[in-house]
Amino acid sequence: MKSTKTSASAAATQATPAGPLPIDHITPLLGGMSPETFMRRYWQKKPLLIRQAMPGVRPPIERSKLFALAGQEEVESRLIVREHATGSAVVKKSRGKAAVSTPGQWQLTHGPLSRRSLPPLDQPGWTLLVQGLDLHVPAAYDLLQQFRFVPDARLDDLMISYATDGGGVGPHYDSYDVFLLQVHGQRRWRIGPLKDTRLQDDVPLKILTHFVPEEEHVLEAGDMLYLPPGWAHDGIAQGECMTCSIGFRVPEGTDLAREVLIRWMEGMDTIDKPRLYQDPKQAATSTPGLIPDALRQFTADAVARLMKDPAGLQSALGEILTEPKPRIWFQSGEPLPDGAGVRLDPRTRMMYDEQRVFANGESWRAGGKDARHLRQLADQRFLTASVVAQVSEAVRELLNQWAEDGWLHPLA
Ligand code: SIN
Ligand code: CO
Repeated sequence: MKSTKTSASAAATQATPAGPLPIDHITPLLGGMSPETFMRRYWQKKPLLIRQAMPGVRPPIERSKLFALAGQEEVESRLIVREHATGSAVVKKSRGKAAVSTPGQWQLTHGPLSRRSLPPLDQPGWTLLVQGLDLHVPAAYDLLQQFRFVPDARLDDLMISYATDGGGVGPHYDSYDVFLLQVHGQRRWRIGPLKDTRLQDDVPLKILTHFVPEEEHVLEAGDMLYLPPGWAHDGIAQGECMTCSIGFRVPEGTDLAREVLIRWMEGMDTIDKPRLYQDPKQAATSTPGLIPDALRQFTADAVARLMKDPAGLQSALGEILTEPKPRIWFQSGEPLPDGAGVRLDPRTRMMYDEQRVFANGESWRAGGKDARHLRQLADQRFLTASVVAQVSEAVRELLNQWAEDGWLHPLA
């Protein structure tokens, strides 16, 4: 079992559990479509503007708390300051931070960002981006749960952007799908298919040189814009504005293969008995620098043997996909009180396949009733007290261990 990591500042959430949205129910979130229909018609295919996807939505965090969060070491934040084309806005230098800047255009500063390093509220054209808000703020975690009609293996995080009038990150494209949910004020989005991928030189952000918008929409609080990967977009705040971006993970094939192979081989050390190279037929050589053919064949055989173990690949994949995000620490907890239900910590990643259950980079084999209970926990992210009362001794022990590790908590 992984050793428990601790962090004083990682707060446990009091989020009310909610299971995933039923996939055949029509929902305002998707403009009166069901998740099934949305996925079939729009996902990875074409943009969708949804007016009042979340009527009455409130920002998951208030401005002053967001600014305080951006100052924390374990929170990923960025400040982007833009000088207006007229040159009328004065760009304030971020004190004490190394900033990559281009005179007269854009300035990017990576967090942690003290309140003093943020420009004044009445300065137009700046944006604060805070990544992974769902890991730190219960309301953001709850909001993200509504998008679990997409597999957790693809769902990444909720980023929030705070902008003053005219603020934005410039015309760009992302390699992932994104839902852009307006939660406060107004933002004017211009979007268009990506025809020219060239980026501006000498700017610290990826900004398109030739952005040709085809549509323009002003989003009010509650409105949402879905964009598939590779759609050019530029969102400019009209007055003070806050936007939540629900982003997705896009594994790159070679990177994923590399990670899986490394993990797969690590797992193999423990299950495969060592096979030592033998060369009783090696003749005396007058070319000692030459790699023997037999050794090349021995290596090829070893790799082929590894590839014949698909279970190893599945374990490695599940462990990699549930690996906690960098800078994530769990606060150790208490064993579960008798009669309690459980809910996963927002930072816990839990998934499963036909044979195994994965959580936070580890895997367990599970079948029968145990698998049913653990899969239910992965899908709902909570188990009621009545379900916990039915679990086997082995699952109970696992849940207790996870509670002590801070991976889950008693259900309030
Ligand atoms: C923003 O909210 O300012 C940027 C989000 C995005 O363009 O993906
Ligand atoms: Co974007």
